[in-house]
Amino acid sequence: MIIAIDGPAASGKGTLARRLADHYGLRHLDTGLTYRAVAAALLARGLPLGDEAVAVATARNLDLSRLDRDVLSAHEIGEAASRIAVLPGLREELVRAQRRFAQEPPGAVLDGRDIGTVVCPDADVKLYVVASAAERARRRTQELVSKGQDAEYARVLADLERRDQRDAGRAVAPLKPADDADLLDTSEMDIETAFKAAVDIVDSVH
Ligand code: C5P
Repeated sequence: MIIAIDGPAASGKGTLARRLADHYGLRHLDTGLTYRAVAAALLARGLPLGDEAVAVATARNLDLSRLDRDVLSAHEIGEAASRIAVLPGLREELVRAQRRFAQEPPGAVLDGRDIGTVVCPDADVKLYVVASAAERARRRTQELVSKGQDAEYARVLADLERRDQRDAGRAVAPLKPADDADLLDTSEMDIETAFKAAVDIVDSVH
């Protein structure tokens, strides 16, 4: 079974993906981390974010089993990830690795922006997770503060909205629901309620 979960930043899709993977005994890949890992490597070496050949070469050396959200969660890395995510050659390279991950038994939950549309268009279940920008900014601010990082709500909100616009507006694999995706709005849900709603959808579709 393959479950594809897409949605904008801080919509709750990552937490849902992890919980669903546990619940159904599937492997989990947060594909945002693959873009973040390449961005972090470029930033660390002072390499340009707009050079496709350099980004592709960096992606080739990526070990998908060693992606650490804690290390890659920094705000600047998310911003840089969204800037390099417009490079078609880089996307091709990462999508290849993501598909290999998805196809290994016993199946997987992948979350990102283009899983249902590009990476796994034949996924058994597709969820598109949304929440209002205000609620997403509130959650992200809380998350950053709890990790001891500097976070001011107004700035987090502005950054999220800018990143959503870039992700939804790009030419290649923009953020959007697949035609056959089920929509889940978590604005008014806590994580437990959202998880139960997601399980209901998976059980009814699968
Ligand atoms: O989900 P996360 O915030 O970690 O993603 C960082 C950035 O990586 C996103 O803003 C987006 O530009 C890019 N991304 C993508 N396609 C995916 C996952 C992430 O373009 N499947």
